[in-house]
Amino acid sequence: CGIVGYIGTQQASPVLLEGLTRLEHRGYDSAGLAVLGGSGLKVAKRAGRVRDLSEGLPKRFGGKIGIGHTRWATHGPANDVNAHPHTDEASRVAVVHNGIIDNASALRAELADDGVHLASDTDTEVLAHLIGRSSAKTLEQRIAEALGRVEGTYGIAVAHADFPDRLVVARNGSPLIIGVGHHEMHIASDLAALVRYTTTVAHLDDGEMATVTAAGFTTYRLEASGLAATDRRAKEVDIDPEAYDAGEHDSFMHKEMLEQPARAEAVLRGRLDERFGTGHLGGLNLDARELRAIRRVKILGCGSAYYVGQMGASLIEELARIPADAEAASEFRYRNPIVEPDTLYVAVSQSGETIDTLLAVQEIQRKGGRVIGLVNVVGSAIARQVDGGIYLHAGPEVAVASTKALTNMFLAFGMLAVQLGRVRDLSVADGKRLIAGLTEIPGQIDRILATEADLALIAKRLAEAESLFFVGRVRGFPVAREGAQKFKEISYRHAEAYQTSELKHGPLALISPQVPTVAIVPDDELVERNVAALHEIAARGGPLVVVTHEGGDLGDLDGQLAGRIDVPNNERELDPILLTIPLQLLAYHAALELGHDIDKPRNLAKSVTVE
Ligand code: G6P
Repeated sequence: CGIVGYIGTQQASPVLLEGLTRLEHRGYDSAGLAVLGGSGLKVAKRAGRVRDLSEGLPKRFGGKIGIGHTRWATHGPANDVNAHPHTDEASRVAVVHNGIIDNASALRAELADDGVHLASDTDTEVLAHLIGRSSAKTLEQRIAEALGRVEGTYGIAVAHADFPDRLVVARNGSPLIIGVGHHEMHIASDLAALVRYTTTVAHLDDGEMATVTAAGFTTYRLEASGLAATDRRAKEVDIDPEAYDAGEHDSFMHKEMLEQPARAEAVLRGRLDERFGTGHLGGLNLDARELRAIRRVKILGCGSAYYVGQMGASLIEELARIPADAEAASEFRYRNPIVEPDTLYVAVSQSGETIDTLLAVQEIQRKGGRVIGLVNVVGSAIARQVDGGIYLHAGPEVAVASTKALTNMFLAFGMLAVQLGRVRDLSVADGKRLIAGLTEIPGQIDRILATEADLALIAKRLAEAESLFFVGRVRGFPVAREGAQKFKEISYRHAEAYQTSELKHGPLALISPQVPTVAIVPDDELVERNVAALHEIAARGGPLVVVTHEGGDLGDLDGQLAGRIDVPNNERELDPILLTIPLQLLAYHAALELGHDIDKPRNLAKSVTVE
């Protein structure tokens, strides 16, 4: 979800709507605004996109103070009443909220017992009522009192008709940023909404609250005894607002795919030691002795970050010969995991905000484990929580379907694996071979991107199928998983990933001329085994698209393919990322062909900050 706020000399609603449009990728099933003007508090909210809200905005919606929200539904369906802002019964308080209030049902029941009419199904509404019912003197005290009653996570912004000179914001687990303008102040849950107005910003910490007036802001810490002032100052951030525009591209996803060569160079820059054939990852905060003491690596992430984690685990096993595996962060902490001091835990996250991943990190740390982060967003919650890490330098990623961040996650794993290998028994020659391989990747991605027109033709044919398989084995299996994920995310076709070797043990039953298979077949030691399995598909009339290497020999299978996609050759360990790039383009062109909203696939959101 996304939060914006404005207080200053301009009319608030156009500024808020512009900010919400910039945050729409964070949730887009409903949106709303509240403004404080001469006639008190006015609220407009509805299911649908920010555009629908803007078109339906009442004529008289003036006010120079306001808050807004774009929602990804958690409690209650995406309808008009469940959209934020939420208000108290007297409609004097308006609240927008990101996060989740765990004890909402108990609080709702208590309010209902007291005769309060709850208008929506949401957890957020309880905050509006609690603040509205408080008789404390200041707005800040009323909010602190309400927050004292809730358990869970929040980033909130509050407007109150009785305090028309201010907005109050608070954070616990869900980001909140204050932007300082000229006689005006902005509020947002993400820099994307602010950068066009100001690059002077202050990030609130968990447990912090701020009063924001047109002239400035003051911060406090929420403590049991009350509010204690903190000394948070705004700082200049070095950000190019253009990075948040799609420019000439039809979508952010397209722009972000094409940025990959340049962003891949950025993540490698200054981190490769060609002379000694190793990685140079200063941010890990681990010296050679500590690196050598690692007996196991456990990687955690969600969605694409989990699949790239699986690619990373094989890199680490192959190059450093340390047992490594990846697990969905969303599952990890629910099975009382064994946390060991000589395991290196790696949290992977583009946004650095995914709550499932953050909670997994906290659980590990609680049990004494050491966690490093592979995170894109600088200063994000996970980046701050971990004990060290590798920033991904992918630049802002806006499309829900991750591309450039995922690529840089893989490259970061490549460097980490080499560095872990080199303090064990990876030879200097092998280290140099892999460092040289990593250096070649940006140029090779460029070459794959240049084949976009051919990939588009294949994608159009795949888009006709209701259901597809993506298969791969060993190094190729996480590639197939990521490929299937991208495809289903944006084309809404059923795409299932399977190990090529396991097809014959079940899913072969589904193969038919209507069910194509995209097979990941690197030209490696398994190519013959792969080709044999694919013959079993071809023999049953299943259309086959193969992603393989330039010059790869597929024998007589070649004549039976519906499509062949060749990627450049590199070191075999590094194959997964090159094999992944064409799958991004397949998903993108299939979705385009089917007329879907590429950047905002239905039901999803860019970062999921609730469990
Ligand atoms: C959401 C997005 C996915 C993303 C996952 C992890 O589910 O829809 O595209 O891969 O979160 O996000 P993160 O920011 O932690 O990498």
